[in-house]
Amino acid sequence: MSQTPPTQPSLTAQYTWAARFSEPMSDLVKRYTASVNFDKRMWRQDIRGSLAHAKMLAKQGIIPAEDLADIQRGMAQIIAEIETDAFAWSRDLEDVHLNIEKRLTTLVGDAGKRLHTGRSRNDQVATDIRLYLRDSIDDILILLGQFQVKLLDLAEREAATPMPGFTHLQVAQPITFGHHLLAWFEMTRRDAERFSDVRRRTNRLPLGAAALAGTTYPIDREFVAAELGFEGLCENSLDAVSDRDFAIEFCAASALLMMHFSRMSEELVLWMNPRFAFVQIADRFCTGSSIMPQKKNPDVAELARGKTGRVYGHLTALLTLMKGQPLAYNKDNQEDKEPLFDAVDTVTDTLRIYAEMISGISSRPDNMRDALRQGFATATDLADYLTCKGLPFRDAHEAVGRAVRRAEKLGVDLPQLSLAELKNFSPLIDVDVFAVLTVEGSLAARNHIGGTSPDQVRAAIARARSRQ
Ligand code: ARG
Repeated sequence: MSQTPPTQPSLTAQYTWAARFSEPMSDLVKRYTASVNFDKRMWRQDIRGSLAHAKMLAKQGIIPAEDLADIQRGMAQIIAEIETDAFAWSRDLEDVHLNIEKRLTTLVGDAGKRLHTGRSRNDQVATDIRLYLRDSIDDILILLGQFQVKLLDLAEREAATPMPGFTHLQVAQPITFGHHLLAWFEMTRRDAERFSDVRRRTNRLPLGAAALAGTTYPIDREFVAAELGFEGLCENSLDAVSDRDFAIEFCAASALLMMHFSRMSEELVLWMNPRFAFVQIADRFCTGSSIMPQKKNPDVAELARGKTGRVYGHLTALLTLMKGQPLAYNKDNQEDKEPLFDAVDTVTDTLRIYAEMISGISSRPDNMRDALRQGFATATDLADYLTCKGLPFRDAHEAVGRAVRRAEKLGVDLPQLSLAELKNFSPLIDVDVFAVLTVEGSLAARNHIGGTSPDQVRAAIARARSRQ
């Protein structure tokens, strides 16, 4: 009887974990299970994590000091190789972690093989993602800040520009364009708060959890946490390697941010329409049509609105990915990365382009004023005027409703009705009514925190700037 020759040596040469396997992985399975194509973008975080781990191992006497020196030397070379595109990534080595570890071992020998002492890819990958996300959140917060600075500049330029405020997309009351822009500012202020909040919960160290149960070596997790700038430790090893709630939270914060930018985009698209013609967007942010020579399309805004959908999708993907998983780590979790990375890219790109585009937006005040005129925007001011003179608000509302009907019939705006005409609707109306019916009067009267008067808009900008 012929005996199958022992396959161990060649298999372990190929796969770090293959000692107990008797046949190689099929190509199909290799392709299905490998993640290096997308997780190699975490290489900096992976090396940072490994260096902190190695330093701790040496400090605790778990590996000799010379091994640490070898590991540091090897990693420095690997960094240089990756930065210059000289690193040979291999799908056979499955993921970013094994690719780097294998190269390290080739470069420095046994020291490289000792790096993984007291560690598992499970706590390693959880650490890498948290570091990656923390870095991404920091980038996002900077970009959000840059967008907000430019938004406040535009709001200041437009602090006294009257435009119609809408409800039901029908002209409602006069507001200033600056006030409208400050509504955008408030949305993004909460977005920034949310990302800072996600950062706190992301910034905890999983390393030390090892595969799932912790490790038998005398490790020092606080030391590693401090080395890597984590604010605390994941305090249960099973939870540390398995949960991706921080990534889900990140996608939730991203979905909300994109929802806000999608609403802004929708408004820009409407305002660019010639029926509105409220704003101009600098040509460099628009595109033309290949067939219609007259077209100028607000593509950036449309795409931001469109890309919001994919970020919502990523949130749903991650929630669904997590919901059926028993403790602790499952390979399902490898699927966390592509949605997460795409959410990072989409949010980052959207913020970057919006921060530039916002400076390329200018108002068209005449068109805004025309729209105000056609919409009887000061009707509420007339009702408030009558209420101040003692008429119950409901009666005032009715009297003004009749006045609007009359103005509509005559094809004029309320302030264009004569005093005699206005008196038909209420004897309380006097010549002082005209101050109230002007757009400027209407705006100036809303003079409290959160109101639209130009003074309040300027005060809000000052408050926002002092907080930045
Ligand atoms: N590439 C894997 C991931 O992204 C790393 C962890 C693999 N762990 C394991 N036990 N196979 O989740």
